[in-house]
Amino acid sequence: MQISVIGCGYLGAVHAACMAKLGHDVIGVDVNAEKVRLLTRGTAPFHEPGFDDLLAEQVDSGRLRFSTDFAELAGAQVHFVGVGTPQVEGGYAADLTYVNAAVDSLLPHLHPHPDGPTLVVGKSTVPVGTAAGLAERIAPTGALLVWNPEFLREGFAVQDTISPDRIVYGVPQDAEQARAAQDTLDEVYADLLRQQIPRLVSDYQTAELVKVAANSFLATKISFINAMAELCEATGADVTQLAEAIGLDDRIGKKFLKAGVGFGGGCLPKDIRAFMARAGELGVDQALTFLREVDTINNRRRDHVVQLAQHAVGGEFSGTRVAVLGAAFKPNSDDMRNSPALDIANRIAGSGAQVRITDPQAGAVLAQRRPDMDVSSSAEEAMRDADVVLLLTEWDEFKNLDPETTRSLPAHPVMIDGRNVLDPAQWRAAGWTYHGIGRP
Ligand code: UDX
Repeated sequence: MQISVIGCGYLGAVHAACMAKLGHDVIGVDVNAEKVRLLTRGTAPFHEPGFDDLLAEQVDSGRLRFSTDFAELAGAQVHFVGVGTPQVEGGYAADLTYVNAAVDSLLPHLHPHPDGPTLVVGKSTVPVGTAAGLAERIAPTGALLVWNPEFLREGFAVQDTISPDRIVYGVPQDAEQARAAQDTLDEVYADLLRQQIPRLVSDYQTAELVKVAANSFLATKISFINAMAELCEATGADVTQLAEAIGLDDRIGKKFLKAGVGFGGGCLPKDIRAFMARAGELGVDQALTFLREVDTINNRRRDHVVQLAQHAVGGEFSGTRVAVLGAAFKPNSDDMRNSPALDIANRIAGSGAQVRITDPQAGAVLAQRRPDMDVSSSAEEAMRDADVVLLLTEWDEFKNLDPETTRSLPAHPVMIDGRNVLDPAQWRAAGWTYHGIGRP
């Protein structure tokens, strides 16, 4: 099938390459000429395991191309919209500027297709009610709208797109249109549906809500365990053992129960805030006041790590050296959007410490973007002469550090393990002062 993908960021670029992999003829369109230039060369503009090879392979095959010109997508039957919906400046709501701009640019190119209905398929995370409005806008062209949220995790984006846990379609109310839209999207995902991946069909608003409800649940799970970490810190209990014990109850499950510096990234923080803002507009803000607490607990973990570090250097940051291991919001990614690691590093630097930071992937980007920061190319280099070391993103490189050989690098061997990934006994035995999160 002929497919277009509007927006070639994380979501769109990976989706476009995966659709080409499924055998479709795909054009990715983005307003950013530099991004399009890189993608056209088969070079990934961000770090995502497996994406480089897939992109190069699909571009070479001739099934995948990229452009800044919307006129080039006119021949496609299915148009995916995967542009960003960031948090508005100075507020909690989602900024729909890019979604609206994408639809504005798409409208003049929506034409009837000889093989069946033309579809516009929304993948962006939007406030509930957005899809209905977009469907009305495209209705005069005869095209149909489907809301098909994306659940991919950075670091697993290709795998999550080709082999998702579920596929959700929000379809038009009209039964005939719903059937036509569903059949067309089934054709796009035929390979996935053959693998028995569950496909749930609903109205627009349910499909929109599935995405934000799932992210809210995940954020709640993380803040729950981080709240338990606070209790553990007050009592001398161990949150890692507690998480293991409660996680063995399969109604709870052991995933997303890692206490630490809390959640960050381009999705969970802004999605729960946009969800609260939307609930307020709908007059049901009380339904989501718990998410405010989820957000507060999350931010409190960052404060806690800053305080631990301050205590470790004797109460005053100025004149001290702090090593920060990690800048990306999670490993296997170079994404630093709302990164707890970077936020903590900034706050400590802002309090007068000399911060040296390192990250296997985000480091190079950081060095370019932030000439004010002292970026090291390795953990060992960052740790040299430090008064305290903070492990804030759980890259394998950091998890596998040897406490014996690194012991003599810092001025004071103090390790704050913000992700609970090191063995406290081993680090203490090597002569380090070790602090975990919610661990005695
Ligand atoms: C998330 C959702 O998982 C995904 O389904 C959605 O489509 C987009 O948002 P992502 O932002 O890529 O994906 O990262 P994820 O792996 O979910 O991690 C989010 C944050 O939570 C990270 O900062 C991570 O370090 C943190 N986290 C995760 C914890 O602190 N503890 C955990 O147990 C799990």
